[in-house]
Order: sequence, then C-alpha cells, then structure tokens
Amino acid sequence: MKTQKQHISKSHDVKASLPILKIENLKKTFGQNEVLKGFNLELYEGENLVIMGKSGSGKSVMIKCLIGLMEADSGYIEIMGHDLMALNRAELDELRTEVGFLFQGSALYDSMTVRENLEFPLRRHKHKFGIVDETTPLVEEALENVGLLDAINLMPAELSGGMKRRIALARTLILKPKIILYDEPTSGLDPITSKEIIELMRNIQKQYKTSSLIITHDVDCARVVAERMILLVDGINYAEGTFNDLAASKDKKIKAFFKQ
Ligand SMILES: Nc1ncnc2c1ncn2[C@@H]1O[C@H](COP(=O)(O)OP(=O)(O)OP(=O)(O)O)[C@@H](O)[C@H]1O
Ligand SMILES: [Mg+2]
Repeated sequence: MKTQKQHISKSHDVKASLPILKIENLKKTFGQNEVLKGFNLELYEGENLVIMGKSGSGKSVMIKCLIGLMEADSGYIEIMGHDLMALNRAELDELRTEVGFLFQGSALYDSMTVRENLEFPLRRHKHKFGIVDETTPLVEEALENVGLLDAINLMPAELSGGMKRRIALARTLILKPKIILYDEPTSGLDPITSKEIIELMRNIQKQYKTSSLIITHDVDCARVVAERMILLVDGINYAEGTFNDLAASKDKKIKAFFKQ
C-alpha cells in the first residue's frame, strides 16, 4: 500500500529563505531491509528542525549519509549549495568544517584529556586554524560556552554523562559550524540534565545563528527546540509541521509519537 504523505503545515515563515541543506529522494537498503525509501528534507537558515522517528526507522542512517559516513543507494544531497556527491575529498573536507555533528552518545576519545579532545578537530583542519598549541584561546572559549572550563584537564572517564555530552558539544562548536547535526542529544540523560543540554542548544543557536537538524525521540526535547518537525515513518518524511500541528493530528501513525 502506498503511504500518503501528510502535509500538516505547508507554510512556515522560515521557508522564505533558501535551504542551507537539502535531501531529495534518499534511498538506502541493507540486504532485504529497505530503511530509507525516498526521504526528503529541507533545512532553512537559522532554524531548528527536529526529525522524529521510532528506533530503527533510519534516523542515524540518514544523518550518516548526510555527512558522508555512509553512501546512499540513490538520492540527492545539497549542503550550502554544493552537491555532496560531486565533491572531491579536499572539497568535502572543507565543507565538513561548516557542518558540526554531535554523535549519538558522545564519542569522546577516551585516551585524551578534554583539552586534547577539543584540539583534535582544530589540528585536523590546519588550513583553517593554523598551528594549534596550548596558547590557542579557542579551546577555553568553547569550554566556557558549555560552562565546563574547569574540566579542561580531566579525562573522559572522570566526567559524568551530561558533562561528556557538553564536552562533545564544545568539540563540535569549536569549528564554528554553520550547521549542527544532533543525533539524540538527550538520550541516556536524566530529565534535568536533558533540560540543561536543550537549553544549551537553544543558546548556541541564538548566539551563533546556526541552523540545526536535531534527531530525537524525546517528545519534551522536540516540544522545546522544534520550530518545525518532520516525522520519519516507513522510510519517508511522513508528516511535517510545527509541534502543535503534529501533536493535534488525528492520524494514527502521527498520534503514536505523542502518546507518552
Ligand atoms: N551498517 C549497517 N548495516 C546493516 N544494517 C544497518 C546498518 N546501519 C543501520 N542498519 C539498519 O538500518 C535500520 C535503521 O538504523 P538506524 O541506526 O538509522 O536507526 P535509528 O532510527 O537511528 O534508531 P535509534 O532511535 O535506535 O537510534 C536498522 O534496521 C538497522 O539495523
Ligand atoms: Mg540512531
């Protein structure tokens, strides 16, 4: 049966600008498992767009295709006007400094101190940041942004889950990306720490005017951060709209997301 895409809300004022990131008809299959069956998305400048989908629906696969960690079977991805598939390695590397990615979990390097974890992306992109040593103010600046300057010399094992998430966020921010992709930023955190992380995400967007794609199955997180939402169901962008639009929907598959 063909699923009918639900257009809950077609008009939203952010759409007046051009999309900074665009996904068209993205398909990805693993063996018999058709995960993405023609997924579409447009992220507009300065907006917080939340993608919700149940576990295993393909959210992480979608984000991995976006950052080139995984190759899609077909489809078109455009980031800041560049066709992702047409870029060579050097161009892709350059574009990567504009797109920050917060992994599901925190993915800090366990054998490095917090400072070394933050210096790592700077060293990788020498052409943009020059030689990095202890005198660079960027590390301290990024840690201050997430309220953890005191943790600069700690090892990841000495940090709590919430602190790790903040440090990972600082490591993403240090490249001053125009777009931030968050994969489950609040998963595994208690409600209070989740709230702090959400608050931080909102502050970052305000301060740096970043555009954010936030993948979550946390309804509370979506309610607070989403200016617009897309529901990923059955491999497609099944429904799109504001939180309130979607939460008021009578559609069974949409309602399932909001039952807590
Ligand atoms: N490298 C891979 N090889 C084979 N199958 C994969 C691979 N990566 C993901 N999958 C499959 O793709 C589907 C979607 O996985 P994905 O990790 O994107 O889910 P998700 O929506 O992010 O779920 P969660 O909310 O639990 O993080 C799953 O069925 C998963 O088993
Ligand atoms: Mg995932």
